[in-house]
Amino acid sequence: MTTDQHQSDVLIIGSGASGLSLALQLARYVHIAVISKAELKEGATFYAQGGVSAVLHAEDSVASHIHDTIETGCGLCNSDVVRFVVENGRKSIGWLIDLGVNFTRLPESQGREFHLHQEGGHSHRRVLHAADSTGKAIESTLENRTRAHNNIELFEFHTGLDLIVKDGRCVGAYVYDQKNDRVRVFRSRYTVLATGGAGKVYLYTSNPDICTGDGIAMAWRAGCKVANMEFVQFHPTCLYHQEAKSFLISEALRGEGARLLLPDGSRFMEKFDARGELAPRDIVARAIDHEMKRLGSDCVYLDISHRGKDFIIDHFPTIYARCIQYGFDLTRQAIPVVPAAHYTCGGVVIDKNGRTDVDALYAVGEVSYSGLHGANRMASNSLLECVVFAHAAYKDIRRNLDLASPLAPLPEWDESQVTDSDEEVVVSHNWDEIRRFMWDYVGIVRTDKRLQRAKHRIKLLQDEIYEYYGNFRINNDLIELRNLSLVADLIIESALRRKESRGLHYTLDYPAPSPTAPARDTVLPPA
Ligand code: FAD
Ligand code: SIN
Repeated sequence: MTTDQHQSDVLIIGSGASGLSLALQLARYVHIAVISKAELKEGATFYAQGGVSAVLHAEDSVASHIHDTIETGCGLCNSDVVRFVVENGRKSIGWLIDLGVNFTRLPESQGREFHLHQEGGHSHRRVLHAADSTGKAIESTLENRTRAHNNIELFEFHTGLDLIVKDGRCVGAYVYDQKNDRVRVFRSRYTVLATGGAGKVYLYTSNPDICTGDGIAMAWRAGCKVANMEFVQFHPTCLYHQEAKSFLISEALRGEGARLLLPDGSRFMEKFDARGELAPRDIVARAIDHEMKRLGSDCVYLDISHRGKDFIIDHFPTIYARCIQYGFDLTRQAIPVVPAAHYTCGGVVIDKNGRTDVDALYAVGEVSYSGLHGANRMASNSLLECVVFAHAAYKDIRRNLDLASPLAPLPEWDESQVTDSDEEVVVSHNWDEIRRFMWDYVGIVRTDKRLQRAKHRIKLLQDEIYEYYGNFRINNDLIELRNLSLVADLIIESALRRKESRGLHYTLDYPAPSPTAPARDTVLPPA
């Protein structure tokens, strides 16, 4: 048996807020390997803008944060999990502050108090932020700490391919080393999926390229349940510009008074919800979609210019600069915006310790379904979930870690039956096709007919992709395509099973929540 197999106590797949928060805590006690599909920082975390929610304002309360989260989740949040996350919010944020994350403070408090944003669904100012690049502040701090740690080995440009399960226990993973073009075995006592979401399954998304749902697909193949995949969150306001790649315009702008406008300059949100621009995201995104279709318009507009130049540049420096780059001046004009896929509310089913159905396999962050978000995630609850569940998983792993037993060698990746591809175009073509029909048929507004069309197409594509996968040597694009097609299938299947509209799942065939059936999760058993 080869000695090239890597060995660690805990293998963490993913280096965003969830993966690195967990790595830093565990590394005080055990040896950690972190693998990351791109550079360490590259993931949704780095691009987070609005901030992270926690109860800090004198007039706010844990009860209110719990209430808002459950209300936004449209009857599907697990109230026990919501309480757990909200109650641990302050401590988790304190941990980030102690690490050195530089959240924006109120100048008038001489730096003692934090400035808090307000976002959709929140009934109080509750969102800590580092100007409008909160994710960068968090990720850079975690990255610097991680790189300096002796007990953490980092593997950038390594792609987790499949989990290795032996006698019902996860014992490691096959990992594709992109630079050396080979698959290596990583053995571990515990394995953690921290691979983020699956926004790339849609043509238009705020997500970075790494968000291809790999962890969800790996967990499903390994025997985990996956839940609530139909609840894909579309962020209402991404910049509408051909070259902007759905650049996010933070909800925090609306929290500071930005108005949504039709092309004729009139406001429209009050027609849809009394909370206007600060209604939860499902409502705002649907309202925009409705108005765009009604008017045949390519976009709507967002206007914060009335808040004045100094205020805008001070609060939203990154967004201001990026808009200028595309020829829009936030301080003087309304800017064109459209919705785009933003957040995967469903995922790998976990318990309050981050444990999945497979022994020794954990999942934390956006890859998981903890029960916090229900049918619609409230803004800025995601980064909070990442940090709270990283702490929970750390405690559970540490409690149970057995360092005495040796890690047995595992079978090598078998490449004996495959050859080099002669038709790379199949991969890029199928990538495009999936993303386009998911946008057209499984988007903000669905029907059974559109979902059936999508189901038919994904089955044809999956046959082709799996055949290709079985015959040709893998590369990163092929690994992602295989996962993307599986995640698309899980989304379509979950959407077909929900015969009602609830939260982010809206279908013209059943336009209201079921009046007869109790609200329940869509749980898909493993393959
Ligand atoms: P990520 O940060 O996405 O990290 C995933 C990691 O997994 C990456 O390191 C990636 O390389 C790695 N990976 C993936 N697949 C593999 C594989 N097969 N092998 C190896 N590595 C792999 N939430 C908030 O709460 N507040 C906000 O203000 C906010 N703003 C947002 C703005 C934008 C533009 C976006 C896209 C999201 C925003 N969100 C926000 C959501 C939030 O950022 C994410 O849900 C959260 O950062 C997810 O963290 P994570 O650690 O789970 O995953
Ligand atoms: C935003 O800043 O609008 C994104 C916040 C989030 O997704 O939680």
